[in-house]
Amino acid sequence: MTFDLKPHLETRAKYVETTLQDILGAEHQPGEITRPARLVAAMRHGALNGGKRLRPILVLETAKLFGREDDGVVRAACALELIHCYSLVHDDLPAMDDDDLRRGQPTVHKAYDEATAILAGDALLTLAFDVIAEDVVHPDAAVRLRLSRALARSSGPGGMAGGQMLDLESEHRERSEAEIRQLQSMKTGALLRYACRAGAILADASEADIDRLTRFGEVIGLAFQLADDLLDVEASTEAMGKATGKDAEAGKATLVGLWGTARTREELGRLVREAETLLAPYGSRAAILSALARFIVDRTN
Ligand code: IPE
Ligand code: IPE
Ligand code: MG
Ligand code: MG
Ligand code: MG
Repeated sequence: MTFDLKPHLETRAKYVETTLQDILGAEHQPGEITRPARLVAAMRHGALNGGKRLRPILVLETAKLFGREDDGVVRAACALELIHCYSLVHDDLPAMDDDDLRRGQPTVHKAYDEATAILAGDALLTLAFDVIAEDVVHPDAAVRLRLSRALARSSGPGGMAGGQMLDLESEHRERSEAEIRQLQSMKTGALLRYACRAGAILADASEADIDRLTRFGEVIGLAFQLADDLLDVEASTEAMGKATGKDAEAGKATLVGLWGTARTREELGRLVREAETLLAPYGSRAAILSALARFIVDRTN
């Protein structure tokens, strides 16, 4: 199965970008009082321009695999991207990874200030739950509730935020392979897992298919963070649009640190094969998802 992914990814990323532009408008919504211009500008700085949009694209492609493709899917996909962007704004704060560059531009606390970056993250997170609850996401309110709870669980204390806690607690500490795998399945894996699970739920796939795609999301989630850690060692700041070589310096617990780059590359190969096996029942219908799994491990930024 081969597929020329690049032009397709660009089209999909544009679709996501346009929707995010709309969601992050300056106009306040019914029930809101006003949206302070500085806060909206900082949110837009953190969420627009330059991201690969992998998580929302995974939502779109998984939903498409099961036959759903409409504006409700992209709204749900953008809810997830808002959470991801908030996690990056906070991840870069001086109290966390202390980074000055993100997606090739100054981080939000550099372009604005720390307090504004904290609030921009808070507001992106909250807005995500507004968007996932929109009627257009799914006609059945019970499905919207299911998505909302799953989004909360993948981003909250037992998901991304919990993983970020473990990441910070693990700095300059010995961690076993199992501990690092758990940390990574939370800080990064949980949102990628949700992306694939949500796509299947949005398209009313069977429970068996939802579970299969959830497992696919878990596998590519682990691969995604392994690739990120490998790129931190091997790629340049210019290519990545963010500082590299920082994990070793900060004493981060990574599998690359534990195994070295050669074994990490072998594990990445194994994970792609596992991801492809999970998609095998769908045949050529899953060509794009399969290409995405490969892109995640072969990516250069
Ligand atoms: C970076 O995620 C943060 C991690 C979870 C490793 P991405 O590499 O998806 O970042 P963007 O959204 O494309 O900038
Ligand atoms: C970030 O992991 C994970 C989240 C933001 C939840 P990293 O700290 O490795 O991400 P980068 O390398 O700064 O993008
Ligand atoms: Mg971090
Ligand atoms: Mg970081
Ligand atoms: Mg990293």
